[in-house]
Amino acid sequence: MSTLPVPAGTPAPIERKKVSTHAIDQKYRRGEPISMLTAYDFPTAKVVDEAGVDMILVGDSLAMVVLGHENTLSVTLDEMLHHARAVKRGAPHALLIGDLPFMTYQVGPEQALVSAGRYVQEAGMDAVKLEGGQHMARTVERIVRAGIPVQGHIGLTPQSVNVLGGWRVQGRTAEAAKALLDDALALEAAGCFSIVLESVPERLARRITERLGVPTIGIGAGAGTSGQVLVIHDLVGLFEGFKPKFVKRYAELAGPMRDAVRAYLTEVAEGVFPDAEHSYTMDDAAWAAFEQLLADEARPRQRPAPAGGKLLA
Ligand code: KIV
Repeated sequence: MSTLPVPAGTPAPIERKKVSTHAIDQKYRRGEPISMLTAYDFPTAKVVDEAGVDMILVGDSLAMVVLGHENTLSVTLDEMLHHARAVKRGAPHALLIGDLPFMTYQVGPEQALVSAGRYVQEAGMDAVKLEGGQHMARTVERIVRAGIPVQGHIGLTPQSVNVLGGWRVQGRTAEAAKALLDDALALEAAGCFSIVLESVPERLARRITERLGVPTIGIGAGAGTSGQVLVIHDLVGLFEGFKPKFVKRYAELAGPMRDAVRAYLTEVAEGVFPDAEHSYTMDDAAWAAFEQLLADEARPRQRPAPAGGKLLA
């Protein structure tokens, strides 16, 4: 692969240190917004990491935006690990979080610890994320006690979509809001280093954030959280399935991608691609020698004359 020359006067890249949970905590204490994005493959992880994101989540949303499933329930831990390893290779700086998929931690704390351990040992993840509030506190404790940082996830928890009755905003009644606050407090007490709040009213997310001593990371939770997360395919406009209200598209990549593919198809059909610029050359001497080899091979071979000069039939 060639490296483009760096123009004179270009400032040297700022040395970036690997982000740790300690660094996330310090950023939170300084009151600086924390950034998180999903990534599921090497090139995307590389772009996101180079852009300077604090945390990369290998989210189980990959079931929908990469694998084309209708929800997140069917993705397996082995599939997640395959993608997590690719992300690890592309992102040397961001804190890497592996999302525990459905049925890899709900059975109990021991099962959860084994699954979390696989993310660390087999994919080099720095932390794991799991969905659920108070009822997950013991599980969180078990994983954290074993030395693996845990990010909680409450509000709209996609793995419970069938119980929640769809992709709905959570915590809109007084009781539901109180339950979410209690969930957040229980996760904090259990040792979560941060908590994702998904699809909750802005004022509730703000209040939960004020009551906690660990950062909240919002997705569809307004501006009052300690940080924000989006699914990368939503952010760049590569997932066209549906667009929740909270998604802001910073690019529309699906259109230009389709246009590029159509242009390629047209050029192939018309014989325009590949042209000389995109083809390899061979020098004239080597070509002449090659032609000679072919000519020699094509010439009829003369059988050697036997002793005495008599040719056999
Ligand atoms: O799987 C995922 O992408 C997530 C984020 C939406 C937080 O859980």
